[in-house]
Amino acid sequence: MKNTFQLIAVIVMTVMLTSCSFLGKNRINESDDSTWKWSGTLTQDVAATHKSTGRTVLKASFLTLTGKLSSAMVEGGVQQAMKYCNLQAYPLTDSLSKTYHVSIKRLAAKTRNPANAMGPFEKEIFDTYDRLNAQKESIMDQVVLTKDNYLEYYAPIILTNQCLSCHGNPDSDIKAEDLALINSLYPADMATGFKPGDLRGMWRIRFMPARQK
Ligand code: HEC
Repeated sequence: MKNTFQLIAVIVMTVMLTSCSFLGKNRINESDDSTWKWSGTLTQDVAATHKSTGRTVLKASFLTLTGKLSSAMVEGGVQQAMKYCNLQAYPLTDSLSKTYHVSIKRLAAKTRNPANAMGPFEKEIFDTYDRLNAQKESIMDQVVLTKDNYLEYYAPIILTNQCLSCHGNPDSDIKAEDLALINSLYPADMATGFKPGDLRGMWRIRFMPARQK
C-alpha cells in the first residue's frame, strides 16, 4: 500500500515537473517565431517611437517588480520576497505584453534562473555595457534591429543596495538560511557576489511588428 502511494506521488511529481518545463519552454520561445520578425529598416523614427514604448513598458514592469519586492522584504524578509523575483509570474507582465505587443525579459550573464541566459548577440550588447560601466562611462538604453530581424529595446540593470541580500557577497551580505533557500530553488545559481554599481543584467523588450502601430 505504502509503495503504491509512493509510486503515485512519483508519477504526479513527474507530470507536474514536465508540464511546468513545457510551460516554461512555450513562454521562452513564444517571441522567437517568424511572425515577430521586422520587415522594415531601423529608421530614426522607428528607433525613437520604440524607445519611448520600451521606456513605458520598462517603467511599469520595474515599478511593479521593485514595489512588490520591497514590501515583501519588509513583511517577511528574503524568504517571502523570493517568490516575487520571477518576472514571468506577474499578471502585469502578461497584460503589458498584450497591450504593447511585446515580449519582456530580463537577461543576465551570471544567471540565477537559466531561463534568463543570453544568446551570442545579446551577450555582445551586455559585454559592451559591462565594459563601459566598469570604466564609469554612462550606459544608455537603445533600440536595435538584430541580424535575425527582431526589433528590440535594451536597457541596463545596475545593482543597488536593495539587491544585496539576494545577489551580494554570499559570506557577508546574504544570510546563511537565505543562501540555502536560494541554492535549493536554483541549484545552478551564479547570481551572487555583486556589488552596488555592478551591471547585473539587462531588460530586453522585443516588439511584434505585425500588430504594432
Ligand atoms: C529576495 C531576493 C531577491 C532580491 C532582493 C533581488 N533579487 Fe534578483 N532575483 C532573485 C531570484 C530568486 C531570481 C530568479 C527569478 C526567476 O526565477 O526568474 C532573480 C533574478 C534576477 C534577474 C534575472 C536574471 C537571473 O539571474 O535569473 C535580475 C536581472 C535580477 N534578479 C536583478 C535584481 C536587482 C537589480 C535587484 C535589486 C533591485 C534584485 N534582483 C533583488 C532574488 C532576488
